[in-house]
Amino acid sequence: MAERILIIDFGSQVTQLIARRVREAGVYCEIVPFQKADQALKADSPHGVLKGVILSGGPASTTEEYSPRAPQDLFNMGLPVFGICYGEQTICAQLGGQVEAGHHREFGRSFLEIKEDCALFDGVWEKGQKHQVWMSHGDRVTKLPDGFRVVGVSEGAPFAAIADDKRRIYAVQFHPEVVHTPDGAKLLRNFVRKVAGCQGEWTMKAYREEAIEKIRAQVGKGKVICGLSGGVDSSVAAVLIHEAIGDQLTCVFVDHGLLRKGEGEEVVRLFREHYNIPLVHRDASELFLAKLTGVSDPEKKRKTIGALFIDVFEEEARKIGGAEFLAQGTLYPDVIESISFHGGPSVTIKSHHNVGGLPERMNMKLVEPLRELFKDEVRDLGRELGLPESLVGRHPFPGPGLAIRIPGEITREKLDLLREIDAVYLDEIRKAGLYDAIWQAFAVLLPVRTVGVMGDGRTYDQACALRAVTSTDGMTADYYPFPHDFLGRVATRIINEVRGVNRVVYDITSKPPGTIEWE
Ligand code: XMP
Repeated sequence: MAERILIIDFGSQVTQLIARRVREAGVYCEIVPFQKADQALKADSPHGVLKGVILSGGPASTTEEYSPRAPQDLFNMGLPVFGICYGEQTICAQLGGQVEAGHHREFGRSFLEIKEDCALFDGVWEKGQKHQVWMSHGDRVTKLPDGFRVVGVSEGAPFAAIADDKRRIYAVQFHPEVVHTPDGAKLLRNFVRKVAGCQGEWTMKAYREEAIEKIRAQVGKGKVICGLSGGVDSSVAAVLIHEAIGDQLTCVFVDHGLLRKGEGEEVVRLFREHYNIPLVHRDASELFLAKLTGVSDPEKKRKTIGALFIDVFEEEARKIGGAEFLAQGTLYPDVIESISFHGGPSVTIKSHHNVGGLPERMNMKLVEPLRELFKDEVRDLGRELGLPESLVGRHPFPGPGLAIRIPGEITREKLDLLREIDAVYLDEIRKAGLYDAIWQAFAVLLPVRTVGVMGDGRTYDQACALRAVTSTDGMTADYYPFPHDFLGRVATRIINEVRGVNRVVYDITSKPPGTIEWE
């Protein structure tokens, strides 16, 4: 019988990372908001036997009167429990310990001193060692409930890691799910595999089957249209949905005129050659460019494009006799950066056009089978579905396309110029064999003209920036350290081959503080 872990969410920004770590340990998991935890603990799930429960972090304080709690029954069920940050605090508050508000804020890097060995640390950390962990808390535990012992301390948290081995309840004040706790994934793995005793046989194949079941349950006999962009996400979403519901799905590829050189034709060819999915190719470039005239604010661009996409989809949906559902390849990072999650403290960074950029009036319901996944997991799912490596390995390309790579107003001329620059840049990256080492590389057309000298004449032409970053999930990123001779070669080629450009700069900002795209 399959096994599962339940994650009770108290509104942390990084709850999905816990899920991801559990999946990496080969175990199926479900996230439920704390309000529904009671039900989830009692209900049987077709996904297997419940083997353990993880309590996430969250923005609340257990010292406030109506702060969220785990179901009290959870602690009498004999299930292993792992509390993280707020999760630790609520365990202590609910089992007779004490939590103090406010005065001991600890944010960012901290060091945990291992005081005792315990099952969580097994094979990872030993008594007497010190290890980097990531903290983000204002409250702290000041008295342990009966049965617990301290296994780790940090400067700001005397109860930074605690264990009740008899009841198999473990808790930490730090965040093991983030990469800044370098061994954190191993602790979560220890919890699900060693403490909860899961076998770890869950795979992407199982995810695929579950996703298919969910799509069928959501859609029934309804018709779905799926916006295809040629990127990995929408392609994987389309193929997955097609497996689930066959010809109830129609794909619509909207060419908004903001694509890269040759991209439109390539997407259509690839899909028509490889898949038997009905595909509508709609050239809407005139419409998009007309509506974007005079728009230079980044959020306004995103919202304008999001709204137009929906107009076009709705039109196409009418043509096929109506569709109740719109499918999109929305990923988890798009969700967390576009909306405030569970009313938590996360702020809107950008309206990713396939989430926050959608107009409220949209008539279709959304089907978003990748909403819980990170990019590299989507790539694994794509491979599982048999998508060609040339597609699965493609760099991400944003829905609003080149519009957000031209700060200021967009014109056809600027778009053409950027397409040429971008093509040269990517050609050199491919020739140097660097494409797969880079998460994403693109050019940005700057709203700046600079003076140059070419031949014996003066030029006063456009400047462009090149960007290339490494990342695993798009949430954080670092600039790619190209050798200088590579950058020099690309700059020379761009200036020689693209008329109208006379200066090239390389962007070395990481994320944070920058974002990957310029807008
Ligand atoms: P940022 O610029 O927010 O980008 O650091 C993170 C990743 O998301 C991509 N991106 C988008 N993808 N619709 C998308 O489908 C969007 O509106 C959008 N905006 C940014 C970006 O290219 C990078 O890979």
